[in-house]
Amino acid sequence: MTTTLITGGTVVSATGRASADVLIDGQAIAAVLAPGSHLLGNDLAASVDRVIDATGKYVIPGGIDAHTHMQLPFGGTEASDTFETGTRAAAWGGTTSIIDFAVQKYGERVQDGLAAWHEKAAGNCAIDYGFHQIIGGVDDDSLAAMRGLLDEGISSFKLFMAYPGVFYSDDAQILKAMQVSRDTGLMTMMHAENGPAIDVLAAQLIAQGKSDPYDHGIARAWQMEEEATHRAIMLADLTGAPLYIVHVSAKQAVEQLAWARDKGQNVFGETCPQYLYLSLEEQLGASSDEWGAFEGAKWVCSTPLRSREEGHQNAMWQALRTNDLQMVSTDHCPFCMKGQKDLGLTDFRAIPNGIGSVEHRMDLLYQGVVTGQLTLERWVELTSTTPARMFGLYGRKGVIQPGADGDIVVYDPNGHTSIGVNRTHHMNMDHSAWEGYEIDGHVDTVLSRGKVVIDGGAYLGAKGDGRYLKRGLTQYLT
Ligand code: URP
Ligand code: ZN
Ligand code: ZN
Repeated sequence: MTTTLITGGTVVSATGRASADVLIDGQAIAAVLAPGSHLLGNDLAASVDRVIDATGKYVIPGGIDAHTHMQLPFGGTEASDTFETGTRAAAWGGTTSIIDFAVQKYGERVQDGLAAWHEKAAGNCAIDYGFHQIIGGVDDDSLAAMRGLLDEGISSFKLFMAYPGVFYSDDAQILKAMQVSRDTGLMTMMHAENGPAIDVLAAQLIAQGKSDPYDHGIARAWQMEEEATHRAIMLADLTGAPLYIVHVSAKQAVEQLAWARDKGQNVFGETCPQYLYLSLEEQLGASSDEWGAFEGAKWVCSTPLRSREEGHQNAMWQALRTNDLQMVSTDHCPFCMKGQKDLGLTDFRAIPNGIGSVEHRMDLLYQGVVTGQLTLERWVELTSTTPARMFGLYGRKGVIQPGADGDIVVYDPNGHTSIGVNRTHHMNMDHSAWEGYEIDGHVDTVLSRGKVVIDGGAYLGAKGDGRYLKRGLTQYLT
């Protein structure tokens, strides 16, 4: 077994920072020690197999991206990252675990949908991976199957108030699924947008000749998100289900979460980098020689980008500080412009929804530290520690402590990262939603269960390094 000492760095946790050395023995962290410690009189650095010098750098627990969609069949095509390419890109960006969404389609058995996801992922991942379960058809059969999910290591399921005819659940179905959530402790994850009303607005826009990517955001107005968020909260209140709202983008939806949390309800929410940085105004202004106004399709996702002028982005940053939002995930769902996004060239409704960011989440959120929006500790909490706690991985993941997996990132605050320029990213996409973003900071070294997978600009891991994570119940409830 290889022993590794990370020495000279500042170890950052969700609750503080300290100069410390980290000893990793095989796949797990063995000790967190005072700098330059001796063990049984021996100079530790001289007795380990490998020393990583982290002088001047941060040593943080590996990132956990709790919302990805590798190889998701969606919008008439399939998300362009495989488990192999997507998890490798994640590793490049300092993410050492993902939780992807296994899909049960309408009419399909939950067990079969889950088995298909295991088949896609097994033996292909660069980093550890777990699953949430999408329930695309709530009926007696799937409700019964949900009660067996925890035995499979799945402690959360996602319902959709959006996408009628695809993944949509009506209120009666949501109520029944939430009753299972209450009984089992499984976390209900909710895509909170009023899908049927959005479809009417979208059809009306198309009838008026408004078919650009920008119009996608007009159809998916913030009222649609606020209303659905409120409805989900009330159904969760009634049933006693723990509720987690995914990809929150509207400030009014955050207000709903804050209101419910202030009453003591177990309601949580994530936002995503796109809602912190990108805006509807930029989407309106997007244009390129190749695509014209269709350039904005690279930012078509649901929930949609919101107006910067209306203050949604500032509200997201504020909510991350005040813990009205607890986490940042990517909702990584990449599609290429050519052959995928361009399905909707003449009708925004046919543009596959999704943005690819799995590689950039740690860097993008670190900019919040650079600008003073977040503390270093909060950065770690939002990107690693809370995802672990929220989804039943804490202790093993999300923390640098003896016994935890050796998932560690050495982050250089004086480094620099140009993302997206000239397709320097590693995601399987023909463009980047983040083209031109310049990052203060750099992911130098990444260890995944003790193995160095990224070092000095080289990928040293292999397909199949990642293992399936059986998760326990959430460790975040009040
Ligand atoms: O645009 C998005 N979010 N695509 C992925 C599917 C979903 O709703 O999460
Ligand atoms: Zn969603
Ligand atoms: Zn998603």
